[in-house]
Amino acid sequence: MPADTPSTSIGTSTGTSIAPPTHDEVMAALATVIDPELGADIVSLGMVPSVDITPDGLITVGVKLTIRGCPLRAEIKKEVESKVSVHPGVTDVKISWGEMNADERTEVMTKARWNARQNAPDTEIPLSCKVLAIASGKGGVGKSSVTVNLAAALAGAGHTVGVLDADIWGFSVPRLLGISDRMEARQVEGSDKPKIVPNERPVGDGLLKVVSTGFLVEEDTALMWRGLMLTKAVEQFLRDVQWGHLDYLLIDMPPGTGDVQMGLARMLPSTSLIVVTTPALAAQKVAQRAADMARRSFLEVIGVIENMSTFTCDHGESYALFGEGGGQALADAIGAPLLGKVPLEAAVAAGGDAGDPVSLHGTGAAADEFRSIAQQILDEIAPPTPAADLDMAGCTAREFDPDDVSVTAVTITR
Ligand SMILES: Nc1ncnc2c1ncn2[C@@H]1O[C@H](COP(=O)(O)OP(=O)(O)O)[C@@H](O)[C@H]1O
Ligand SMILES: [Mg+2]
Repeated sequence: MPADTPSTSIGTSTGTSIAPPTHDEVMAALATVIDPELGADIVSLGMVPSVDITPDGLITVGVKLTIRGCPLRAEIKKEVESKVSVHPGVTDVKISWGEMNADERTEVMTKARWNARQNAPDTEIPLSCKVLAIASGKGGVGKSSVTVNLAAALAGAGHTVGVLDADIWGFSVPRLLGISDRMEARQVEGSDKPKIVPNERPVGDGLLKVVSTGFLVEEDTALMWRGLMLTKAVEQFLRDVQWGHLDYLLIDMPPGTGDVQMGLARMLPSTSLIVVTTPALAAQKVAQRAADMARRSFLEVIGVIENMSTFTCDHGESYALFGEGGGQALADAIGAPLLGKVPLEAAVAAGGDAGDPVSLHGTGAAADEFRSIAQQILDEIAPPTPAADLDMAGCTAREFDPDDVSVTAVTITR
């Protein structure tokens, strides 16, 4: 069999000509290439639309990236080349790059989330609980104010709402909710370690369960936390707190977009992000950071809230003190809805100082806006798990619900 007619060389090895791998063999090699961010192999993620094999061993692998500028491109290229070229019949490996469309991206993110959920460690957060992390690219935009006001409004609507102050060093939730008691650690049945008990505050027919490092003052409990890394502390809040029943958990995230988000994504992969921003249009960089954060941690951004919007004085005159349009620009940039614009209003700060969130009894525009956002959460973007489904909450099949997919479509398209 002449070596220069490769099409007839299959199954033989004369001279330098070795049969190229089969399609299945190439796919098997590609199935060992893991997308480090999505945590699964590129074949099962649907990132390999085509494999072309020439008789002389040139393999052209089609690889679709979630976004064109994917920073992992070089890494994936190296992995694909090295895994495929292991086969002795391969003479060269080429990659034909493509980009996913919105539907494909939705699908891949759903799979990634699914994988993450399968591998998520145990936490004390019930699976039926809707977890909303309130994040921002930078501090001082009103993240904590938004967190407590939404939590209070949701509790006021009759729900049990956990508030986790994950801004470990810059905690402000205890003051904003007027709670100063020290949290207790208590021996609980079924656990060899004592568990932290959240501080509670009844609100209307609902209940707030609040956890913050601000409640951990000296003595025994503090010992448990001393010297802990930020991420570790948040992990412990999720694992060592006896949360009990929760309809919602609102997490006041530390400013920035780093490790805590990633830790959360690992611990609570079904967390949805709500990004708070100011009206300043110069928020593009922050917007990009928030979008990147969502992509890297594959947490869904389900909404944007603009805070400190147009101030209206007693005479009815309006002033855009911090600019205009930032919330909408950010929402557009990350493909999530703008849930509301909370005006700059003295009552918000005063409510915070008094430990009484304005969303509870306030009559002004800011209070109305907070309540309207909470209503959107309840009605549309993260409705509570219906009581009838609570028993099913542990069933993983639930996690492929169509809502999830449609929310993802909103989030990932950008
Ligand atoms: N809509 C608003 N109107 C007036 N003051 C506000 C508003 N939102 C936040 N503030 C005030 O701005 C400051 C920073 O808010 P905070 O919620 O602590 O921000 P962050 O948690 O992002 O650092 C606080 O003093 C708070 O009372
Ligand atoms: Mg804060």
